Amino acid sequence: MALLIGCKKIKTAVFISGNGSNLKALIKFSKLKKSPISINLIISNNAKSKGLNYSSIYKIKKKIFDFENKNLAEKKILRELKKEKINLICLAGFMKILSEKFIKNFKGKILNIHPSLLPKFKGLNTHRRAIKNKEIYSGCTVHFVNSKLDSGKIILQKKVKILKNETPKSLSKKILVQEHKLYPKAIIKIFRH
Ligand code: GRF
Repeated sequence: MALLIGCKKIKTAVFISGNGSNLKALIKFSKLKKSPISINLIISNNAKSKGLNYSSIYKIKKKIFDFENKNLAEKKILRELKKEKINLICLAGFMKILSEKFIKNFKGKILNIHPSLLPKFKGLNTHRRAIKNKEIYSGCTVHFVNSKLDSGKIILQKKVKILKNETPKSLSKKILVQEHKLYPKAIIKIFRH
């Protein structure tokens, strides 16, 4: 991807709705020399997201947008992204579906992490569904975002074995550990020359 101009890091916004453990992993990664990105903005639709605390911990600007009026929220977000010269968006547990119009504005520059081996188990409750379906493996996927939910081009995946007596909670915990490693790896992969 021709986003890495000179030696400057790609200005990135991370969108969250909840705990933000992936956000934290991305921030830590961004501080490494090998990281092609810097995290310059945290966006949330939920003022109560625990992950927003990383804004003060790591001194990163945060912005909260009410999605009651999605069209308006997206307009405001685009304005903010432009203002901050953001060139990459990482969705990390962001629970709102972005419109086609918004995605077009950032074509090829929005990534998402999903806790399943896509194309299996798109959408919500992935762990419960994987266990119920008696899958041997589940895992996580980093992919480009297109206008269809969890359907964009896959960048990287990591498999995790589903054990006997696995619960959605235990599986989610195991997969989350892998997500934190996979997201940085996927970013390195797409920006490798
Ligand atoms: C992760 O499992 C991610 O794959 C999914 O939502 C969860 C967010 O976790 N989209 P966190 O907020 O990053 O801790």
